[in-house]
Amino acid sequence: MSRIATHEILPLLLHRSSTRAMSGQPLSDSDLLRILEAARWAPSAANFQPWRFLYAQAGTPLFGQFLSFLDPFNAEWCVRAGALVVVVSKVTTPDGKPLPPHAFDAGAAWMAMALQASSMGLVSHAMGGIQTDKIRAELAIPEGFAIHCMVALGHKGDINDLAERNRPRETPNDRRPLVESIAAGSFPQAWTPTEA
Ligand SMILES: Cc1cc2nc3c(=O)[nH]c(=O)nc-3n(C[C@H](O)[C@H](O)[C@H](O)COP(=O)(O)O)c2cc1C
Repeated sequence: MSRIATHEILPLLLHRSSTRAMSGQPLSDSDLLRILEAARWAPSAANFQPWRFLYAQAGTPLFGQFLSFLDPFNAEWCVRAGALVVVVSKVTTPDGKPLPPHAFDAGAAWMAMALQASSMGLVSHAMGGIQTDKIRAELAIPEGFAIHCMVALGHKGDINDLAERNRPRETPNDRRPLVESIAAGSFPQAWTPTEA
């Protein structure tokens, strides 16, 4: 399937997708910093920039530790990632008040990373299938920070290196029609989950 937008949008938005085939080539410092720099420029509530990124590049001793944070179904293909990044965010403002939009802001930062990587011809793939307790303990992440996901970054690789069940998933997926996600005014009845 090739993606088709029903309304004209930036091609970069349409052509980014979460593929898994990577070559194993480490991500250079320069490529990694460009991608993290993109995240830096994401918008955030009151410009608090609650996001933080902990990373490990392939070929370094840290990389094996970061791989061990992934659920096995993610670790299997992430062995060929060029870098792994843990996305966390601070749940309070600098003066200690709750910051409800911290997750929203971290999500915006992840999307900036993904678009930057895609524009550089690189793979980016967010993963919620991670062991947050292990990450918190081993990376000494304090309680005031939420752990959201990990991101695999890397150079494109050979689809045949993937497990067979993951190969069809290299084809970009689709989206439900826009009309099912938007409404002028009140929340439509049709969006309320129906009881069985
Ligand atoms: C927060 C988050 C968690 C995800 N967790 C996983 C995961 O654990 N493993 C995986 O293979 N893909 C994971 N994905 C990838 C999604 O399945 C993917 O983004 C979605 O199917 C849309 O496809 P696209 O990114 O190619 O457009 C995750 C994506 C996000 C944003």
